[in-house]
Amino acid sequence: MNNRIFNFSAGPAVLPVEVLEQAQSSLLDFDGTGIGIMEHSHRGAAFCSVLDQTIADCRAIADIPGDYQILFMQGGASSQFFTVPMNFLSAGETADYYVTGSWSKKAVAQANRYGTPHIACTSEDRNFCYVPQEAEFSPQPKYVHYTSNNTIFGTQFHSEPTVPDQSHLICDASSDIFSRSLDIRKHGMIYAGAQKNLGPSGVTLLIVHNDLVEAGSRDIPEMLQYRTFSKNDSCYNTPPTFGIFMMGLVFKWILKQGGLKAIEEMNEEKAGTLYSHLDNGNLFRATADENSRSLMNVTFVTGDDELDKKFIAEAKQAGFDGLKGHRSVGGMRASIYNAFPAEGINELVKFMQNFESKNS
Ligand SMILES: Cc1ncc(COP(=O)(O)O)c(C=O)c1O
Repeated sequence: MNNRIFNFSAGPAVLPVEVLEQAQSSLLDFDGTGIGIMEHSHRGAAFCSVLDQTIADCRAIADIPGDYQILFMQGGASSQFFTVPMNFLSAGETADYYVTGSWSKKAVAQANRYGTPHIACTSEDRNFCYVPQEAEFSPQPKYVHYTSNNTIFGTQFHSEPTVPDQSHLICDASSDIFSRSLDIRKHGMIYAGAQKNLGPSGVTLLIVHNDLVEAGSRDIPEMLQYRTFSKNDSCYNTPPTFGIFMMGLVFKWILKQGGLKAIEEMNEEKAGTLYSHLDNGNLFRATADENSRSLMNVTFVTGDDELDKKFIAEAKQAGFDGLKGHRSVGGMRASIYNAFPAEGINELVKFMQNFESKNS
């Protein structure tokens, strides 16, 4: 595997090598069945046991209580932007949104189709470089929605927001799911597209409390009701079998690392190395406020667009791919999800030091 380079892509993103190797061998013959994993029926014993084990490992990782369902849907996290309000919000009703970046803005836009989203707070005044500490809730929000990690702007909630009694907290955790310990009980629902910390794109993981599964609208198509997925073990129609299989391998890898606490420590150390260089070097600086910094997406600039471009080009030449910041922000972004190796951060810091000495 020594022809792999350091992949800082924001998603789809780097996966653990051992997971890719296991997947590779399962493509032709899964578990001695003589049939590749992608070729197995979703109703057959082989896939059913993959599904059961994946759910069991998911529960074990985050200590997910029995009154929460684990569901697998399609359409990406973006489809949850409308599926959530379609299920829980009707005309005349209000749901509150933390607006901390482009993804939460997109979620608000979809909620507008079904009811009245109320912006409880926003950090748009400073181009989303921080997570607001205060929020003003509407009198009776049906739910409160937040994006735990802002992939584009490199900010992250460091604890779950506290919401009014009786309202459900719903989290888009697409870019930091299972990167640290997680208090499931504080949430009514957590959803995440797989392609950053969980596996390949094409499958969305949902952790949903039974009350919300039941509360969802019945006047919408079956495929958009959470109860359909709950009642049918995510197999009402053909689920994304390969994506679920891959997620299962990633779950096993997380457990092998020592679970979320161990993963969190690794992530703190990796991000800490990079932020410490940004804070102490003489050319680059981090763009997010210190108390809002993300452990998953580290955004930084030199302050000179041309120099940023030069850095990105030279870094790519040297084997550091995907460092260009999102088109709406510019600069650089190092996405260092769970599977990104610590060695890659150390090598990047050395490369930055070298670049600094030539360009300061
Ligand atoms: C925080 C967040 N939410 C939602 C999305 C959209 O996900 P998808 O492409 O799976 O619809 C992304 C994609 O990067 C994201 O980072």
